[in-house]
Amino acid sequence: MAGRLIGVGVGPGAPDLLTLRALRCLQHADVIFAPSMAPDVQSRAESIVVRADPDLKVRRLVFAIIRDEDARRAAHRAAAAEVVDQLSAGRSAAFITLGDPNIYSTFHHLLREVRRIDPEVAVETIPGIMAFQALAAEASLVVTDDVESLRIVTAADGPAGIESALQDLASTVVIYKGGRHLGAIVDLLRVHNRLDGAIFGELMGLEGARVAPLGLVDERSAAYLSTVIVPPGRSTP
Ligand SMILES: C[S@@+](CC[C@H](N)C(=O)[O-])C[C@H]1O[C@@H](n2cnc3c(N)ncnc32)[C@H](O)[C@@H]1O
Repeated sequence: MAGRLIGVGVGPGAPDLLTLRALRCLQHADVIFAPSMAPDVQSRAESIVVRADPDLKVRRLVFAIIRDEDARRAAHRAAAAEVVDQLSAGRSAAFITLGDPNIYSTFHHLLREVRRIDPEVAVETIPGIMAFQALAAEASLVVTDDVESLRIVTAADGPAGIESALQDLASTVVIYKGGRHLGAIVDLLRVHNRLDGAIFGELMGLEGARVAPLGLVDERSAAYLSTVIVPPGRSTP
């Protein structure tokens, strides 16, 4: 297989947060693939690249979010076969992904299946600006300073998964995939005395975007594309 597979991070939403390296790669790739919920649905990643350069042509690969593990794996295998077809013909294939391709990304799922077919496939990734970085910039929030640490956690399965991170008062905690559980996350932050200063960002750089102090958000749930930054904690006096 002579072609090269490139995982390209396209940033969180605003087209001008697509890096020059990513844009050049997309303009030179033989084919650009984008994950999509269905063949007729434009993904957020696709919307970013076509706003950055309307001449770019994107091919959709269906990556439905299915709970059933077998069905999901079958979809990933079908997508990988389509990519391998291009690579086998000696073409370079870029696969676009929101934010950074090495953080919670469908690129990794695709690559696992491509490597099943060809373990020697040539691969590279191009980093992308992550949602929490855009949120911190928007909210003028210093993410870490001095000896503070940073933890990135997922609340995809509910807020229980973030509890141990919240107990570490010296760490800033970035919560991904928590939109569905926003109310429960607020409750938990309150219990841990960490709601004060927490920032919420939804659909950053996309239609319907909003940034607000989390304590002022009334809804108990928000879009899947929601991120929370919890600054380092203070012990109760
Ligand atoms: C599958 S992960 C993708 C992460 C991405 N690879 C990154 O580096 O930021 C999806 C999660 O990223 C966050 N996210 C990505 N884009 C976002 C956006 N435009 N606004 C708010 N959160 C976003 C949300 O927490 C969302 O649930």
